[in-house]
Amino acid sequence: MDSSFVITIDGPAGSGKSTLARSLSAELGWPFLDTGALYRAVAVAAAELGLGGAGPEALADLARGLEIAVVLARDVSRVSLAGRDVTDLLRTPEISDLASRLSAVAGVRGALRDLQRSLGSRGGIVTEGRDQGTAIFPEARLKFFLTAAPETRAERRARELEARGLEVDRAAVLAAILARDLQDSTRETDPLREPPDSVRVDSTSLSEREVLELMLARAREVFGRISGPEGPAG
Ligand code: DC
Repeated sequence: MDSSFVITIDGPAGSGKSTLARSLSAELGWPFLDTGALYRAVAVAAAELGLGGAGPEALADLARGLEIAVVLARDVSRVSLAGRDVTDLLRTPEISDLASRLSAVAGVRGALRDLQRSLGSRGGIVTEGRDQGTAIFPEARLKFFLTAAPETRAERRARELEARGLEVDRAAVLAAILARDLQDSTRETDPLREPPDSVRVDSTSLSEREVLELMLARAREVFGRISGPEGPAG
């Protein structure tokens, strides 16, 4: 697999991965892969089929049988299930919770692994998730680990939900973040870990712009002058 032009961004829930991956992708002109959206799409399918409470085997079978397609862009990864675009259904608290639970199932992770690798082998790509620099693209030339204090991450998540018109209980948002941290980092398969060869960025007291500048500077160091809007393979 050629991951020469893959930039991975891993980190806990609410660390700003998606936002930064999106901005970095726009600055570099490389497409962006939001891998959480794939787990969320499996969760949508499970919820629709009444399999939310199903066991690991049933969830793995479901994931293996799904026809998931992703259209990469600079802003949103559009995800479809058997040709139906489900992107707008991915970001509810219920789907977040179900996605977190099913992402702990080894068979589900296996079902999504090849899809992620094939998307990354096409050329310049910025990818974000929990296991990108460790399990999916261990050979990536540039890896970031983005983190921030749980309270900061919860506050950002609360504002995101409010911006979408949802009512927010801040204590519940913090509790959910802590629960997902525990779930993501203690599961047996591909737990959230800081890749040993990654650049750690703690954004607790940095603005989004400051984090982006830092990441861009590293990208320029590693890749030299970044080629035009189509990326290196374009
Ligand atoms: O980043 P997110 O909140 O959209 O991810 C949804 C869930 O999927 C989250 O609980 C963690 C999990 N996930 C994962 O296990 N591995 C990834 N590469 C991406 C997300």
